[in-house]
Amino acid sequence: MEDAPKLDPSILVIFGITGDLAKRKILPSLYHLCKENLLPDQTKIIGISRKHVKNQEIIDTIHECISEGGNICDPKVLDRLNKWLSMFKLDPLDDQDYESLSDHLHKIETDSGQCLDRLFYLSIPPQVYGQIIERLGSHGLNKSCRHNKAGTRLLVEKPFGFDVATAQQLIENTEKVFSEEQIFRIDHYLAKETAQNILKFRRHNPVFTNQWNGKQIKRIHVIAKERIGIENRVGFYEQVGALRDLVQSHLLQLLSLTAMEIPKEINSDEVHAAKHEFIKNLIPPSPGVGISKQVLRGQYDTYKDEVNNPHSNIETFVSLVLQSKDPNWEGCIFQLTTGKSLDEKQTLIQVSFGDEDPNVLSFRIQPNEGIDVDLLIEQPGFTHNLHRVKMNFSYNQNLGDSHYAYERVLVDAIRGDKMLFATKLEVMSSWHLLQPILDFWQQGGEDLEIYSTGSKGPSTKRLEHTFSDKLNKS
Ligand code: BG6
Repeated sequence: MEDAPKLDPSILVIFGITGDLAKRKILPSLYHLCKENLLPDQTKIIGISRKHVKNQEIIDTIHECISEGGNICDPKVLDRLNKWLSMFKLDPLDDQDYESLSDHLHKIETDSGQCLDRLFYLSIPPQVYGQIIERLGSHGLNKSCRHNKAGTRLLVEKPFGFDVATAQQLIENTEKVFSEEQIFRIDHYLAKETAQNILKFRRHNPVFTNQWNGKQIKRIHVIAKERIGIENRVGFYEQVGALRDLVQSHLLQLLSLTAMEIPKEINSDEVHAAKHEFIKNLIPPSPGVGISKQVLRGQYDTYKDEVNNPHSNIETFVSLVLQSKDPNWEGCIFQLTTGKSLDEKQTLIQVSFGDEDPNVLSFRIQPNEGIDVDLLIEQPGFTHNLHRVKMNFSYNQNLGDSHYAYERVLVDAIRGDKMLFATKLEVMSSWHLLQPILDFWQQGGEDLEIYSTGSKGPSTKRLEHTFSDKLNKS
């Protein structure tokens, strides 16, 4: 976002503005965008909530979030946001409320003397997407303003469905109302600074570009460790678990950026096509190899008490290994690991060149965004011992502060750039890949390992040898 984009004025309609996601990500991002003058002054934000909520409550929330990190919250920015914001009470099942919303939007546009792009942001549990989307359609809110002179977009948060069947259903139902062009499926990990850099890095550094295959790269491991637990999202997490929450979306998307074929042109259509092709080529874990040999799941020790369900077998940790049928990737293992309530917050992608004593190239997605590569050198002195050293690049030290991922999500949605959003084909191929695991877990299984809160999580050592027979033969 270094070269500030010129954005058309738009109306951002946020369903679930009082929710956890709005508080943690969306509102602080709006604050920063406003502070950096990236949004035009005619911007309007409509906060949708089931209850009567005053503007001031939302402004106080923003103040709290920004101040939490020790930052000074600028009152002028809050004033400006307050002018843009209007709260709107809506019962998602009440048709009359959608009519009133439509009138409200129309009035805003009449007052501002122009049609504005409209963005409906569903920051609500995915179970209620269907009923809202249907009503947006039946009240004409999927269309542009009454003069048909602006765009309308739908922004949805992951997970998009809970498995193959529900995702397919959600896609079909949504398509009845909004075209694929209008739908922006958010995956905020794609908007993180280092994630955006992966493709460019791969393309423009021939020292790596020419080695990017299974002959040289033996493992690509995408890791997303979190220190936080489920943070009161009991209802959500008990239905979702780590595989659906992070693997199906964030981790598979990061893996695709790392291993997909680099398209000739880096534009939205080509990047999406290449990502889809990569995910499609991953081999779903099969009972043949033994799903429990390819996947391990864990749960932190205080989870059952936290969700008040002594029988819960929802995973808060998962690690899995996969292979691809793409001949370019023969010999490489892809590993995805994520967990909550662990010892640290860290998201990184490790690309290991070579089998024994590999050189590991790491994309550090967060915190301390950057790239490093470890190398073996001879230790100075009289011995011939080898020593592992790191060559390190950090964004903050070298290129200035990086932006919040949600700032990028909002800016791209407003300007209609779909590069960093997931397509329905990517979503469906991810669910197809993971469905055998969901089925396996659904049938029971005693494979849930309990780990201590604040620890490193279950050992993933046993996954290291899963494909070793096959690899030795290749
Ligand atoms: C969300 C998940 O998509 O990503 C949360 O639903 C998770 O469970 C969050 O905590 C992590 O995002 P970030 O940007 O803080 O790493």
